[in-house]
Amino acid sequence: MTTIPNGSRPVESRQEWIWSIIACPECGSPLVAEATDGGLACERSACGFRSSHRGQVYNLLPRSLDQFQHAEHNWRQQHYDRLARSVAQMSPDQYRTFRLLDTITYYSFTSQFAFFRDHFSKQHRLRGRGLEVGGSNGQLSGFVKLFYPETEMVTSDVAPVNVELAEELARLLGFGTDYFVMADAERLPFRPGSFDFLCSSGMLHHLGDMRRALRAGRAALKPGGRWYIVNELSIGALPRLFWNSRLGQKGKWALTTGIRENSYTLSEWRRFFAEQEFKIVDMYFQRDPRYKLLSWPRALYYAAVARLPLALLRAGVPCEINFVLEKQ
Ligand SMILES: C[S@@+](CC[C@H](N)C(=O)[O-])C[C@H]1O[C@@H](n2cnc3c(N)ncnc32)[C@H](O)[C@@H]1O
Ligand SMILES: [Zn+2]
Repeated sequence: MTTIPNGSRPVESRQEWIWSIIACPECGSPLVAEATDGGLACERSACGFRSSHRGQVYNLLPRSLDQFQHAEHNWRQQHYDRLARSVAQMSPDQYRTFRLLDTITYYSFTSQFAFFRDHFSKQHRLRGRGLEVGGSNGQLSGFVKLFYPETEMVTSDVAPVNVELAEELARLLGFGTDYFVMADAERLPFRPGSFDFLCSSGMLHHLGDMRRALRAGRAALKPGGRWYIVNELSIGALPRLFWNSRLGQKGKWALTTGIRENSYTLSEWRRFFAEQEFKIVDMYFQRDPRYKLLSWPRALYYAAVARLPLALLRAGVPCEINFVLEKQ
């Protein structure tokens, strides 16, 4: 890729390379640009998939999504509608700034940034082209671009409202994220071997078919490519009975939002990965209370968990877990 003197890339080349990796989310055939501005379609006319893109934002969602995938969008949209009503006196421009501030000062943004800065970026060297799956606001892709500026990043999410915000946020913060794609993790719209690495944060436990998503991710990776998984939970079968019940925090959240919430034991995680021929090259219980400041009970819980022997976490004491997988 050529570089222009001020260090930014020429607009044409930014807009071109995604066409060499995208594929129909329904049949995997190449996608072609349509004569209408921003239109795109599956090359196989019998498939009939059509969609659109605007600038760097591509809608590559399959035609049908399940109720939980719709809920990811609807719940977030309702959240923003409430937010807008809470500052009804603001002009649209003021509200835009307000919403961005609201996003970047929220726990999931600030704690992920601190973790990325202090831990992740010191442990891992990322190179080449990456895909973030279930990226929501796309902050993880933004941090990757900031700490590894030679990478090319595509962030993706099943909820259109999230992908739109990801683009706005990246523009505001100057992240340089290359593309913003609406996509289902189980039907990734990319050609085989398109990416050097994948990353996802707190996404896998929302999926209806984990095996299918791991297969799709594996196919999108080059041989030897890695999948950096952060912000998942490892929980024993017993505490899970409570955690996911209508009395537990996860169960309550699922009932309130309509979003699918699963929890997995460490051996279930391992089995999922082994079945799809991923090797776990790193596994890390992330229990530093400095990154758990969502609420004081949570920070206190992790302050206690941080003192426990690892054997207890492996045995099922609930704890955030991160993995690095390698495609064999
Ligand atoms: C708990 S949020 C995490 C968001 C972000 N990665 C973070 O760490 O803050 C889970 C995200 O996964 C997305 N998601 C859920 N199911 C998905 C699917 N089938 N395909 C792609 N993304 C999905 C949701 O829309 C949501 O943005
Ligand atoms: Zn197709």
